Amino acid sequence: MSTPSYEEIYTTLKQQNQLHLLKYYDQLTPDRQAALLEQIHSIDWELIGLTKKAPSADEDAPKDIEPLGAMELSEIERRREEFTSIGLDALRARKTGAVLLAGGQGTRLGFDKPKGMFNIGVSKTLYIFQCLINNLMDVVKQAGAWVPLYIMTSQKNHEDTTAFFREHDYFGYNPDEVHFFRQDMAPSVGYDGKVLMEARDRISLSPNGNGGWFSSLCRAGYLKEMQEQGIEWLTVFSVDNVLQRINDPAYVGAVIASGCDCGGKVVRKASPDERVGVLCKESGKPAIVEYYEMTDDMRSLRDENGALLYNFGVTLNYMFRLERLVDILNRKMPVHIVEKKIPFIDENGTEVKPDAPNGYKFEELVLDMIHMMDSCLPYEVVRENEFAPVKNKEGVDSVDTARALLVKNGVEI
Ligand code: UTP
Repeated sequence: MSTPSYEEIYTTLKQQNQLHLLKYYDQLTPDRQAALLEQIHSIDWELIGLTKKAPSADEDAPKDIEPLGAMELSEIERRREEFTSIGLDALRARKTGAVLLAGGQGTRLGFDKPKGMFNIGVSKTLYIFQCLINNLMDVVKQAGAWVPLYIMTSQKNHEDTTAFFREHDYFGYNPDEVHFFRQDMAPSVGYDGKVLMEARDRISLSPNGNGGWFSSLCRAGYLKEMQEQGIEWLTVFSVDNVLQRINDPAYVGAVIASGCDCGGKVVRKASPDERVGVLCKESGKPAIVEYYEMTDDMRSLRDENGALLYNFGVTLNYMFRLERLVDILNRKMPVHIVEKKIPFIDENGTEVKPDAPNGYKFEELVLDMIHMMDSCLPYEVVRENEFAPVKNKEGVDSVDTARALLVKNGVEI
């Protein structure tokens, strides 16, 4: 692609009413000028236009929702041996890979490094990345086989993340089994629809959500490698749940035995109106319905035994059949417009770090992939054993709640 000329860019920006992006152009060195033009050239204006209907597009509200029964703990216990054996066979044949989603910015935690570098330890050092690797190592030891691990980073945190793993000898994982890849970025806009600038020579770009993980993985060239190695399943999990079991044999085995296209670890909701997404059926297909998309009546709906029908929240730990991911590779995913705190330079060129949301980011979400599958197994896990997300600085799902749960589960911190 040839570098666009200043005139071409000027004309586009004028049409889009975004000429402010060239405000400092004349003050830049020729290479910074070229880089800025290149960045502006890559903006997807259709995406920016979506903010006109922000903050929420009612037409996207889910329709025709029904409950989707989970495989509950009692059944898992009863069939544990069968599932474990199927799972161990798959692990030993290296049919499963794992994908760690670590491209997010963790703005709620307010830690200025990648979230996985956060030390969750108290009297010893225990980084979040280390916790996750320890959890995966349990499976590696049990199966006697490495699980290929793919780690998604973003342009913002790639160097820090890869250097951190190197400095810590991959926390005991086999470096040959760890593969990093970068996700795509998307521009951020202010509430007025104007693209924000991060510096005089740069527009504000942020990671485009966790939904692009598979296309980014393929773009990095890993699809062929995975297919050649015989990988048939990929689990995908978040960086922040320090207690999650990753590719544990019973889970892997249960999803394979179910014959479904995918599975997802779910936990019993703490209360009917807990703010979590619920695995349901929408128009006959599996779907994750957000708590705010449900009516009060739905949230408190019970079966004849008195159990809540929409009772299982997702934990961002899914397992997908690789060939089904390939089927949907070129399908367009919905774009979510999310309000965030976005650092920017103001009209005087001064850097501002807002402490309240000041604009929108555009994100694709992994949960939308579930709806592109024909079938899904919601697999129940014990909440206090497997769900300790580190989202916030304090309060719910915070460093303190995660630490308490780690201790409860016998992890030395
Ligand atoms: P969250 O939705 O919690 O987003 O990500 P976040 O960016 O980490 O945190 P906040 O909202 O700014 O506080 C859930 C998972 O998806 C990953 C995160 O790293 C986390 O594992 N993620 C999120 C990505 O990999 N890329 C993204 O663009 C966004």
